[in-house]
Amino acid sequence: VTAEKGGYEHFMHKEIHEQPRAYQDTMRGRVDETGKKVVLPDFHMTDEQIKNIRNIQIIACGTAYHAGLVGRTVIERLVRIPVETDVASEYRYRSPIITPETLVIVVSQSGETADTLAALREAHANGAHVLAITNVVGSSIARDADDVIATLAGPEIAVASTKAYTSQLIAFYLLGLYFAQVRGTQTEAQVAETLAAMQALPEQVESILAREGEAKVHAENFSAQKHLFFIGRGLDYAAAQEGSLKLKEISYIHSEAYAAGELKHGTLALIEDGVPVIALATEQALIEKTVSNIKEVKARGGVVLTICYEEDAKELMKSVDSVFTIPKTLPLLTASLSVVALQLLSYYASLSLGLDVDKPRNLAKSVTVE
Ligand code: G6P
Repeated sequence: VTAEKGGYEHFMHKEIHEQPRAYQDTMRGRVDETGKKVVLPDFHMTDEQIKNIRNIQIIACGTAYHAGLVGRTVIERLVRIPVETDVASEYRYRSPIITPETLVIVVSQSGETADTLAALREAHANGAHVLAITNVVGSSIARDADDVIATLAGPEIAVASTKAYTSQLIAFYLLGLYFAQVRGTQTEAQVAETLAAMQALPEQVESILAREGEAKVHAENFSAQKHLFFIGRGLDYAAAQEGSLKLKEISYIHSEAYAAGELKHGTLALIEDGVPVIALATEQALIEKTVSNIKEVKARGGVVLTICYEEDAKELMKSVDSVFTIPKTLPLLTASLSVVALQLLSYYASLSLGLDVDKPRNLAKSVTVE
């Protein structure tokens, strides 16, 4: 069994460590020789169709839904097309407005999730072009979709998704850049800059993994608590939602992710002495505002751990209890580094509580009932 796990104690740990490779594999063959342009060889959508897209709906469940939240911001920032992200099990109930100019993107690691498949069929029946981002090319979702972008994360065994999620982010970056090229919403230089930053991600993930001992200490500091909150703004908020799900899934600690600015509209009432709060503060333009939310938490006795860039750590340490730093990347790409830190925190919290990391209670890897 340990051989299967490549010497790691758990599949989740192994899969967290496979992310640098998964990033590379998902990018391979999708960036041209110059390194400055995205190419999607198997893509069926014509440039004409891409230019005609009026709106995009991203549909998924669980962790894939959280990747879709990042995808929304990525596509809107790069391409300026309105994007909505929906939980697949809810999508049909709001009578979504689908036209022939609607692109529906379904995201699914397994490609077999019943809710996502049902939403895909509904979108198809209403005339949408459907693109699937999936880790299993022979899956039902891949078969039913009009276009597929395969994430090349390799088989994911642990119930808590890690490398599939981050590979989905890579797929969204590539897709966003590709659409931006076709629609001319980014200059060649901007695309090249983002691709260069993406090429650096695998090494940056390695550098986070090299410091997992620090994450273990932080996790052990909060793992005895009953409640925990994650806060962030922008893409930090999207990443916070995934971090919170990860923690719940495998440590059973009750956690909630809040948009940092929304905390004061209710949830702040739950902050009292000793309540741990993990604050993501990588979105440079929003840091100041996030810091004022951190101060609100501190004033009520909350214990704050911040995930931030190395260069901001010194300043942030004036307001928080501890920091876990990540290497700097472009604002658009931040979740693909910050979430790795959050995965490590969850993993070590679960481990220190002696829980079954790879097979949490009540959960299944792939859910084929609605
Ligand atoms: C299950 C898993 C989650 C996963 C979700 C969606 O609930 O436990 O980890 O995110 O299904 O799975 P999919 O295969 O569609 O990405």
